[in-house]
Amino acid sequence: MMTLINGHQVAYTDEGKGPPLVFVHGFPLNRSCWSKQVECFKSRNRVIALDLPGFGASEAERGPATMNHFAEGIFTLCQYLQTGPIVLVGHSMGGYIALAFAQAYPVFLRGLVLVGTRAGRDEPEVASARRMRARAVQQAGIGSVVTDMAPKMLSAINTDLDMARQVRDTMASSSSEGVVSALLGMADRPDRRAQLASIQVPTLVVAGADDTLIPMRESVDMAETIPEARLVVIPKAGHLVAYEQPGPFNEALASWLDSSPRGRQIFPLVR
Ligand code: MLT
Repeated sequence: MMTLINGHQVAYTDEGKGPPLVFVHGFPLNRSCWSKQVECFKSRNRVIALDLPGFGASEAERGPATMNHFAEGIFTLCQYLQTGPIVLVGHSMGGYIALAFAQAYPVFLRGLVLVGTRAGRDEPEVASARRMRARAVQQAGIGSVVTDMAPKMLSAINTDLDMARQVRDTMASSSSEGVVSALLGMADRPDRRAQLASIQVPTLVVAGADDTLIPMRESVDMAETIPEARLVVIPKAGHLVAYEQPGPFNEALASWLDSSPRGRQIFPLVR
């Protein structure tokens, strides 16, 4: 499905009925990474997964895409779809966006799921490498981003060549404009670690045990700081944990949805 957000076409999936779960993909990916979650949860939830601007089938916007701007687009989509308060699931860059959303729209949030992500900002050398990469993509396209990042998405022990090819193809389908905007937006994102202690909603933090892009320590730190957080580490999973290990990931998400850490249900049971 498609709708206009900020004057640009945004593609999204909206399936199932029940309490709304919204999935936000990482960089440079698209909503197809959540296909196993859409299939699994649509029998119990309304499941929405969107392509961020410039990724998948969504139109790119010009200029740096700040995490706040992405979060605003998600809020606008949810208003258009009349979801009411949501559980927001963000992977990696999607997690940076989910934290921006949590700060901007706390009353619109029932729960937060932070997957393979971190709350801190880029170190200066990482931010400047991203800006250089953005210039390189403007000149030569996204080939170097795909070549560099695709091998780091899955666990080093994963020998599934089809899966590796699908990840690479998904990345390669991103637009240069989208990749440049997101790189510049990530380079400029603020440090959100101070915000973690004031997150008021139940939170699930998920890490892949073999993630080399964002070390597990980041997840442990977030889970220790967010008041109502549960940490789940998924074995044999790299950075793209929900895609690589959908079974254990979906089990962890379902069990957390059914009972939050203090025994309070995140949603009233609607089954
Ligand atoms: C992602 O998967 O979204 C990226 O690895 C995030 C990043 O580059 O910081």
